[in-house]
Amino acid sequence: MSFDRSIKIAPSILAADFAAFGAECAAVEAQGADWIHVDVMDGHFVPNITFGPATCAAIRPHIRGVMDVHLMIAPADPYLAGFAQAGADIITVHAEAGPHLHRSLQAIRGLGCKAGVALNPATPASAVAHVLDEIDLICVMTVNPGFGGQSFIDMTGKVRELRQMIGNRAVHIEIDGGVTPETAPLVAAAGADVLVAGSAVFKGGSVADPAPYGENIRAIRAAAEKATGVMA
Ligand code: DX5
Ligand code: ZN
Repeated sequence: MSFDRSIKIAPSILAADFAAFGAECAAVEAQGADWIHVDVMDGHFVPNITFGPATCAAIRPHIRGVMDVHLMIAPADPYLAGFAQAGADIITVHAEAGPHLHRSLQAIRGLGCKAGVALNPATPASAVAHVLDEIDLICVMTVNPGFGGQSFIDMTGKVRELRQMIGNRAVHIEIDGGVTPETAPLVAAAGADVLVAGSAVFKGGSVADPAPYGENIRAIRAAAEKATGVMA
């Protein structure tokens, strides 16, 4: 994975057809998705259960680009190797999921994956102050994790603070939750470069009719790029 701060759109398969994950990944990538965001939930760290390493392994052959795995599980350490073997390019753990974040991040990199840390809305930017050299991505939650289709919680102040803390390190700032063409400019202007979107990408389309996926992705990307001054 090469690093640049161009705007990337990462559809979350939480909003996809659960009976057709492989076809949905292929369809949304063909319609312009940069990454595929995979929301793993355990019913313990968050009040919902989704899927695990077996689903990641099953969809891996259908994803040409980056598989961005977001672990909303606690503990996460016992499962890191399973997600790495399943083909994750990025594994993101929550800062709130356990007492040894530094060790978890080192373990992810030790498995050959890029390491991400996710921050719930109430968690301050300072939570990553001592692991900035152990990470490749910070996922700023703009909803309380567990479900798609929720309303955006404004975290632009935290995004700006993180952008300052990162400096010129090759660390992505990812926004996760409630991203739409209306909210994307706010976070892009504050310094975010990866935008996760579930309902705003998958709405109106299907594997049989994926064109709306492309329209939705283009609308989010254009709104974000306009806010960053990048000519569309
Ligand atoms: C929530 C997940 C998000 C969610 C995004 O716990 O981490 O990735 O699926 O869905 P939307 O874009 O619909 O808010
Ligand atoms: Zn997510």
